[in-house]
Amino acid sequence: MTTTETLIAAADAHSAHNYHPLPVVVASADGAWMTDVEGRRYLDLLAGYSALNFGHRNRRLVEAAKAQLERVTLTSRAFHHDRFAAFCSELAELCGMEMVLPMNTGAEAVETAVKTARKWGYKVKGVPAEMAKIVVAGNNFHGRTTTLISFSTDSEARADFGPYTPGFEIVPYGDLTAMRSAVSENTVAVLLEPIQGEAGVLLPPAGYLPAVRELTRERNVLFVADEIQSGLGRTGRTFACEHEGVVPDMYVLGKALGGGIVPVSAVVSSAEVLGVFRPGEHGSTFGGNPLACAVALEVIAMLRTGEFQARSAELGGHLHRELAALTGTGRVTAVRGRGLWAGVDIAPRYGTGREVSEKLMDRGVLVKDTHGSTVRIAPPLVIGKEDLDWGLAQLRAVLGV
Ligand SMILES: Cc1ncc(COP(=O)(O)O)c(C=O)c1O
Repeated sequence: MTTTETLIAAADAHSAHNYHPLPVVVASADGAWMTDVEGRRYLDLLAGYSALNFGHRNRRLVEAAKAQLERVTLTSRAFHHDRFAAFCSELAELCGMEMVLPMNTGAEAVETAVKTARKWGYKVKGVPAEMAKIVVAGNNFHGRTTTLISFSTDSEARADFGPYTPGFEIVPYGDLTAMRSAVSENTVAVLLEPIQGEAGVLLPPAGYLPAVRELTRERNVLFVADEIQSGLGRTGRTFACEHEGVVPDMYVLGKALGGGIVPVSAVVSSAEVLGVFRPGEHGSTFGGNPLACAVALEVIAMLRTGEFQARSAELGGHLHRELAALTGTGRVTAVRGRGLWAGVDIAPRYGTGREVSEKLMDRGVLVKDTHGSTVRIAPPLVIGKEDLDWGLAQLRAVLGV
């Protein structure tokens, strides 16, 4: 057996089979490239589902982490630490908001958003006890906790994990009429991904997000934008909502906020909304720890330059022009996305998303399929144009064009 086969067999024997990874075992990585245990190099066109927007082992981020490792890494929130205030104020400023509630994973941040919206509903809006309702979209992906899968429409994510948490209403993504009729007196929030990543990089119709913004404002309902995957430069702007001129009441952030080094997530909102919490009502041992804050502060500083957003917009334009040319070949049925983020639907005759991903892996390119026929392309924003072009050439070769 090769080293790769031995390590995969050992992982299969001793880990739960809740993932179906491509058969590659990564040993090291740098920028947009990963190297496996056999010494083969791969171009990373997934970027850890956008957690690696700044590339693998980004120098600035690694230096920030190392410096913090030499000072203090964890205090718990039982005590203050000297990176916390800066992290909260600078993240709030980046978002144009006032307050931050830090957590670790994306799912925890969405859970936090749900709790925040409910509490705001009872304490500020005046919704009767236990009646708060949150409207969400079909095909959403907000994470894997029992509450979050309660309002998933993906049967694989839900089956056999009930009973489910009540208090959510699901409407089709992009359907404004359905959204209008779902919002009622007891609605405390509308929770949406401005672009649905896991669903296959789905954009709502133009004008949908601004209309939801207007509706939620009129009806005194919080507009909660889950920008865990779409935010922090991925689409060519700091937030995907910006493309539609929308400012939500709450951003939910994660993934790239931790610079690909540590899990860092957060809910960011106004003082009126996040001000509802009292000590003991919510928290996390690791949330807002010094190491997380140090890395995230560097992420925020890097985003403030606008350099990564501009890079994503420019290279993303190139990516989408190249991918659009593929739709004319019959091999690809649709391409969607914004910035350096694309969902490419493969015509069934030319293989499933998984088969195309495996063939790309054999050619030294790593991507991830989603929903059967879609291949998702989301390289680190630091990728070079030549590398991106090389990756696209491998995709064309796999599709035979
Ligand atoms: C939009 C969105 N929300 C939430 C999550 C969950 O994040 P995590 O896997 O860190 O819990 C994801 C992960 O893919 C996501 O894309």
